[in-house]
Amino acid sequence: MKPIQVGLLGIGTVGSGTFTVLNRNQEEIRRRAGRGIEISMVADLDVERARGIVGDRARVVADAREVIANPEIDIVVELIGGYGIAKTLVLEAIAAGKHVVTANKALLAVHGTEIFEAARAQGVMVAFEAAVAGGIPIIKALREGLTANRIEWVAGIINGTTNFILSEMRSKGLDFAAVLKQAQALGYAEADPTFDIEGVDAAHKATIMSAIAFGVPVQFDKAYVEGITALQAADIRYAEQLGYRIKLLGITKRRDDLATAPGGAGGIELRVHPTLVPSQRLIANVEGAMNAVVVQGDAVGSTLYYGKGAGAEPTASAVIADLVDITRLHTADPDHRVPHLAFQPGSLQDTPILAIDEVVTSFYLRLQVADQAGVLARITGILAEHDISIDAVLQRESAEGEKQTDLIILTHDTVEGRMRAALAQMQALPTVLAPIVRIRKEELK
Ligand code: HSE
Repeated sequence: MKPIQVGLLGIGTVGSGTFTVLNRNQEEIRRRAGRGIEISMVADLDVERARGIVGDRARVVADAREVIANPEIDIVVELIGGYGIAKTLVLEAIAAGKHVVTANKALLAVHGTEIFEAARAQGVMVAFEAAVAGGIPIIKALREGLTANRIEWVAGIINGTTNFILSEMRSKGLDFAAVLKQAQALGYAEADPTFDIEGVDAAHKATIMSAIAFGVPVQFDKAYVEGITALQAADIRYAEQLGYRIKLLGITKRRDDLATAPGGAGGIELRVHPTLVPSQRLIANVEGAMNAVVVQGDAVGSTLYYGKGAGAEPTASAVIADLVDITRLHTADPDHRVPHLAFQPGSLQDTPILAIDEVVTSFYLRLQVADQAGVLARITGILAEHDISIDAVLQRESAEGEKQTDLIILTHDTVEGRMRAALAQMQALPTVLAPIVRIRKEELK
């Protein structure tokens, strides 16, 4: 049978990795897919560079629309990124009846509902394994491998850049800004790392996982996003003394407890923020640029997925897995394919994504306080007034003659809104000498 024909839009790092791996493993891939898979067209603005990568094995054009318009092309792989032209081209490819593979997490997290609806109406597939955690097959796991489960929560290290920075901060005792500079010099962080360090990239990925885990539409605008730019080396050190590591986690959690509250309809937490995780958890020991995702299902319990979340060949591994899936399934009745978001389109629910004030977590607090009688009592009094229970307290030993100290408090679970009110009251105390540091904590049991 003639190989299925693929057109690449964009041949940067992931595109050239896809080309390389597809060529290297073509025989194995053909045996798995039941048919060859061939990249026969590539569109890239830098035609010369693209020709340097593909040689005479594929036709190179500057205009992506030539690929979309070619009736020979069965699958369009979008590797341009961003929400601009990439969105237009994906919608045009769908309208032209092409199946689409994309690594574009930003596009799907923000415009996924429109894109999946267009694909459903056209009877084509949009596959996006590479959009979340690079080479880790987490979409496949959530959508198919765990399909028997009622998923309870998903928590992941889904941004390699920030995990690399946090690992370096911990092992070298350095502050954020110094490590970021190093990471940029080594090529671990982009020249403009904003999306990574502000948590936006992780929130795109968490949004996609949330939709698939709980059968709700993708809703990036409802995600709570906090990056790692304000993290200080001192807090990483104190956390360690208390038995915790700080990781930037993407978390999405089902909150059935709200369904039983008067008028409550249940809710879903969707958030990205630095998080204290017990050092003995496997995910707390994921270091460097690696990614890992923990999924808690009611039947299977806890499962962990670990691997490279970026890079040419790891991401190509996910892109090609999608190409194989489409090759196997493209002749199947569209109603019998695996739904884009794991749940049948008519069965998505409108369970609300909770505002951050409604989220339940425990907290790490660091207060720089005057070292005098009654300070601790006043602070713990405020926490008690807000019904926030303390788990542990650590006080830095003051040096001879020093008039201030650091007070570290770990709390039990509480509703965030309550903690916000307590923090405002504590911050107003004259004996609290600097802005209070608060970092959320998850036991991930
Ligand atoms: N920039 C991302 C990371 C990879 O650092 O993990 C692509 O999403």
